[in-house]
Amino acid sequence: MGLLHNQFGIRHVISSAQFGREALACVFEGADDIAEKFAQGRRHEYAHALDGAVVASYFFEPSTRTRWSFESGTHRMGGSVITTENAEKFSSAVKGERLEDSVRVIGHYADAIVMRHKRTGAAELAANYAKVPVINAGDGTGEHPTQAMLDLYTIKKLRGTIDGVNIAIVGDLRLGRTVRSLAKGLCNYKKVTVHFVAPDILQVSPDVVDYLALRRVKFQKHSNINEVLADMDCIYMTRTQRERMTAEEDTATKNADTEYGIGTHNLHLMRPDQILMHPLPRNNEIEFSPLTDGRAKSVYLDDQIKAGLHVRAFLLKDLLN
Ligand code: CP
Repeated sequence: MGLLHNQFGIRHVISSAQFGREALACVFEGADDIAEKFAQGRRHEYAHALDGAVVASYFFEPSTRTRWSFESGTHRMGGSVITTENAEKFSSAVKGERLEDSVRVIGHYADAIVMRHKRTGAAELAANYAKVPVINAGDGTGEHPTQAMLDLYTIKKLRGTIDGVNIAIVGDLRLGRTVRSLAKGLCNYKKVTVHFVAPDILQVSPDVVDYLALRRVKFQKHSNINEVLADMDCIYMTRTQRERMTAEEDTATKNADTEYGIGTHNLHLMRPDQILMHPLPRNNEIEFSPLTDGRAKSVYLDDQIKAGLHVRAFLLKDLLN
């Protein structure tokens, strides 16, 4: 599996760049087995996989999916959870405690730390000091590697392969951490073409472009989703990350989500075999209407969610055993 050891020899999950094709195949296989057992009423086969283990979910930013899927996976496999959903306010961070000290301490209470932080690079910093595995559940505008794993797993399940996928990554590509992690993950596969669709102010960061270029992955930038919508196998929509914007950026992108989004105005361009994905939460970029469903395979409320539970459960099991 993806290896990143710190000075204490502990494995962590910090960046998509850690995970090559083989490591991802191992994650997908593990997630498949968990999915199968959970679906077939054979949950008991995993019910003790984390017996006695304690997972700390240490969140400095809100979360619905990431925190609860990790917590649910832990509980379903016999482990227990200690948690704060607002560590900024309800941990000693409020008294000025340094992250380096906090994670070292939490490592005495828990066997793994699932951490979300508003600062880019915070997960890597934590991993340098923790004596238990740290899983990056999102660090600022940096990365969200377990989201990328579940996204790739979803594509693999629905298409049979990730090789050859023609994918549009749409929305706030500059500030969205899922975009960076997914783009890096896609580089493991053959004949992938990535179409980055966003208004100029939200276009993808140079480091992502460089990462793809270095690995000779084909990509194009577009400002209008309608240019590419009909030709995609997969459309990965993202929301505008307003919480990370300056007031000026917020004003400049006021209607961006409806402009780059999918709704009644462009739904006719889509095909039923296309996969419509979103890491969620969504705002206006996918019109909140049942019309969307049926035109494409909309997987953001079901397949992607289940994939998140199964992939994260596997990661916990792998890291803790
Ligand atoms: N996709 C994702 O990270 O969702 P949450 O913010 O709800 O965890």
